[in-house]
This record gives sequence, structure tokens and C-alpha cells, in this order.
Amino acid sequence: MNSSPVASASGPERYGTVTQSIHWVTALLVVAAFAYGPGGSERSAYRPSRDAQRLIHETLGMSVLILTLVRFAWTRLDTQPIHHLTGPLATTAKVVQWLL
Ligand code: HEM
Repeated sequence: MNSSPVASASGPERYGTVTQSIHWVTALLVVAAFAYGPGGSERSAYRPSRDAQRLIHETLGMSVLILTLVRFAWTRLDTQPIHHLTGPLATTAKVVQWLL
């Protein structure tokens, strides 16, 4: 068989499956938390009929926080790929990182 091994840890060329999974699960959770955000006035957001939506929203948000802490811990154990970005992609990456 001619398949490349799937590395759970990052290598010099690319991030490993653990970092990639944390990244995409976090992104999905943020979008879901946003979608379940109990918008509107305070009265409407804290209405008993919206308790379930608010609970889902808070759980998603707390999960993002926990995953972020896991990501920080994993980053300390994992190796970091060497970035070869140039041109507009490098500029975009810097701007987005700065905004974050
Ligand atoms: C990635 C994380 C999160 C995102 C993207 C997010 C997003 C939002 C959005 C879009 C709203 C509606 C705001 C409005 O229209 O006024 C909202 C409201 C709210 N969120 Fe979050 N949220 C996050 C995490 C959390 C967490 C961790 C908690 C609490 C444990 C929380 C509790 C609330 C509450 C209680 C409201 C109701 C409105 C208020 O009190 O201002 N959120 N959130």
C-alpha cells in the first residue's frame, strides 16, 4: 500500500491531526455558539422559554474556552511547523492574527 502515515503530532512541514482537529472543532463550536446566541433584549434572552437555547449556547461557549486551554497545553508539547508563507497569504495571516 502506498499511503502516507497520518501524524498526530505536528512536523516541520504541517500541523498534525491533533492540532488540526482542535482547530476545526473550535471553529464549528464558535459558529454554533453564535447561531444559538440568545440575542435580543435582556428580557427576551433570559425568558424561561429560552432557557434551553441559552444553556446550549453557554455550554458551546464554555467548550470553546476549555478547548482553547487544551490547545495551549498541546502547543507546549507539540513541535511547531516552519512557516513558509509569502505574499498576500502571509500578510493575511499576520493581519488575522493581529485582529485575534
Ligand atoms: C465562542 C463563544 C461565544 C460566542 C460566539 C457567543 C456569541 C453570543 C451572541 C452572538 C450573543 C447574542 C448577543 C446579542 O444579540 O445581544 C450572545 C449572548 C449571550 N451569551 Fe454568548 N457567546 C459565546 C460564549 C458564551 C459563554 C461562555 C456564555 C456563558 C457561560 C455566554 C452567555 C451568553 C448570554 C447569557 C447571552 C444573553 C445576552 C446577554 O446577557 O448579553 N456566551 N452570545
